[in-house]
Amino acid sequence: MTQVHVLDHPLVQHKLTLMRKKEASTNSFRRLLGELASLMAYEVTRDMALSDIEIETPMETMTGKVIDGKKLVFVSILRAGTGILDGMLNVVPGARVGHIGLYRDPKTLVAVEYYFKMPQDMHERDVVVVDPMLATGNSAIAAVERIKELRPKSIKFVCLLTCPEGVAAMQKAHPDVPIYTAAIDRELNDHGYILPGLGDAGDRIFGTK
Ligand code: URA
Repeated sequence: MTQVHVLDHPLVQHKLTLMRKKEASTNSFRRLLGELASLMAYEVTRDMALSDIEIETPMETMTGKVIDGKKLVFVSILRAGTGILDGMLNVVPGARVGHIGLYRDPKTLVAVEYYFKMPQDMHERDVVVVDPMLATGNSAIAAVERIKELRPKSIKFVCLLTCPEGVAAMQKAHPDVPIYTAAIDRELNDHGYILPGLGDAGDRIFGTK
């Protein structure tokens, strides 16, 4: 069964509410998304393995902790994933980055792939897939399916918002992939939008329409 982590930290909830407001400018929407993503990165990396290394402080030798093994990979689902990616990289600047280009066919809502570029040695890496909205789940499911072909050590999925339909779809397709989100909204409408939601995340990040 998929684990769903709803990040109910007051800072996360406050920023999310400001982003939802229809009058939020592109500038503030993007800034808030970056800040929120940094907070989410903190939570999603909580269980990363650490190993001991010996270092010298100006005072004496000590054993410190560093993140173990190969670096984390953030995989951004284009284009809206970019908004989360930037905030995550602020907190984990050494992470590798993969991109997967998927667009939603507006009639069928099915995800169509047009780009796929991942770092090397994916089988030695932990992957965090990012996309602001887990709505129908079609893009997230297709992205995770493609990434699984490369046999990474683990996969997590981070979104800003989801809905019961999105969670159920991911749960069915990828029960092994935990979901991290700031909120589970009421429902999906007939056009594949989350209600009450925040509208089209890509358009709001990039100021397009
Ligand atoms: N994608 C969006 O950008 N918004 C939604 O509400 C659903 C999918």
